[in-house]
Amino acid sequence: MLILGIETSCDETGVALYDTEQGLLADALFSQIAMHADYGGVVPELASRDHVRKLLPLCDQVLAKAGRDRNDLEGIAYTAGPGLVGALMVGGSVAHALGFALGIPVLGVHHMEGHLLAPMLEDNPPAFPFVALLVSGGHTQLVRVDGIGQYQMLGESVDDAAGEAFDKTAKMLGLDYPGGPRVAALAEKGREGIYRFPRPMTDRPGLDFSFSGLKTFTLNTVNNAKDNDDFDEQLKADIALAFEAAVVDTLTIKCRRALEQTGCKRLVIAGGVSANKRLRAGLEKMTAKLNGSVFYARPEFCTDNGAMIAYAGAQRLKSGQRDGERIVSVPRWPM
Ligand code: KG4
Ligand code: ZN
Repeated sequence: MLILGIETSCDETGVALYDTEQGLLADALFSQIAMHADYGGVVPELASRDHVRKLLPLCDQVLAKAGRDRNDLEGIAYTAGPGLVGALMVGGSVAHALGFALGIPVLGVHHMEGHLLAPMLEDNPPAFPFVALLVSGGHTQLVRVDGIGQYQMLGESVDDAAGEAFDKTAKMLGLDYPGGPRVAALAEKGREGIYRFPRPMTDRPGLDFSFSGLKTFTLNTVNNAKDNDDFDEQLKADIALAFEAAVVDTLTIKCRRALEQTGCKRLVIAGGVSANKRLRAGLEKMTAKLNGSVFYARPEFCTDNGAMIAYAGAQRLKSGQRDGERIVSVPRWPM
C-alpha cells in the first residue's frame, strides 16, 4: 500500500511517501524557521499561510523523487493534532481533497504517535514492548508501548515540556529560536562544575516531570550573573551546560525507573529533544548498565517530519482505519 504522509502541525511542512512493502520511498521538508525567527517564536497565522504555499509543491516533489504520480497513491495520512489549529487544517484539507479526488482512504493521525513510531523507520527497529520517552517542544511523556495503538501513559510533565525549557533557556541566554540545538551547541563550550542546577522531582517516587522550576532557577542564575557584571560568553556557556546536564540527568533517572518498573529492556526516545547528543549518550550509558538498549530516529526524523506521519498512518490504514468525510483537526488531544 502506497501512502502519502502530510505533517503541518506547527512550523515545518513535511511530506513523505511510504510503501508498506518497500518502506520509505521519499521525503521532503520545508522549515519555516527563518520566517518565524524575527518574531522569536512561531506566529500561527504566518505558519498556516506558508503551509498553503508549500504543501502541494512538496507532494509533487516526493512523488517525482520516487518516480510515482498521484494516481499510484493508495492512502493519505495527515497530522490531525495536537498542534496549531490553522496549520492542522491546511494539512487536513489538502489530504481530504486529494483523497476525495483520487477515491482513496484518508486518515488523521496523532502527531505524538508519529514521533513515537519514527524509530521504526531505521534499520534496526525496536521490537514491542518498549518504553518510550517522548520529548518535544510541547510534550514530555513516558509511555509503555505494547503495539501500534497500545499505549499506556506512565508519566508526564506537570508543567513545561523539556523542549520548551530548552527554548526558554535559549531566550534567557540571548540565543535565537528554536533554542534547543543552540543551547546544546553553546553547552559544548561550557566548563564542568561551575554551576549545579536541580534535578526536579527525582528525589521522590513516580514518573512525572516538572521543568518550570528549573526554568526559574536558570533565570535567577542569569540575573545574578548580570548583577555581578560577569554575564559573558564563557558564563553563558557554563549556564547552558549546567542546564542541559540537569535536564539530561532528570530524564535519565526517570527512564531508568520506567524500565525497572515495567521490566522492559528497550527504550525508545523520540521528539525534537531526542536529537540531543548529551541525552543520547546519557541514555546509552544507563541502558547498557541494565543490559538494555536505546533506539532513536536519525536526527532529521526526531524533529517534525512527514515520514513519521506516513509510517504511523500506514500502520493504521493497513488495518482498515480511516476518517469519515470530515476533516479532523484537534489542537489539544491527549494520546
Ligand atoms: O518534535 P519537535 O520538532 O516539535 C514538537 O512537536 O514540539 O520538537 C521541537 C523541540 C524544540 O523545543 C527544540 O528546541 C527541541 O525540540 N530540540 C532540541 C534539540 N533539537 C531540537 N532540544 C535539545 N537539543 C537538541 N539538539
Ligand atoms: Zn513534533
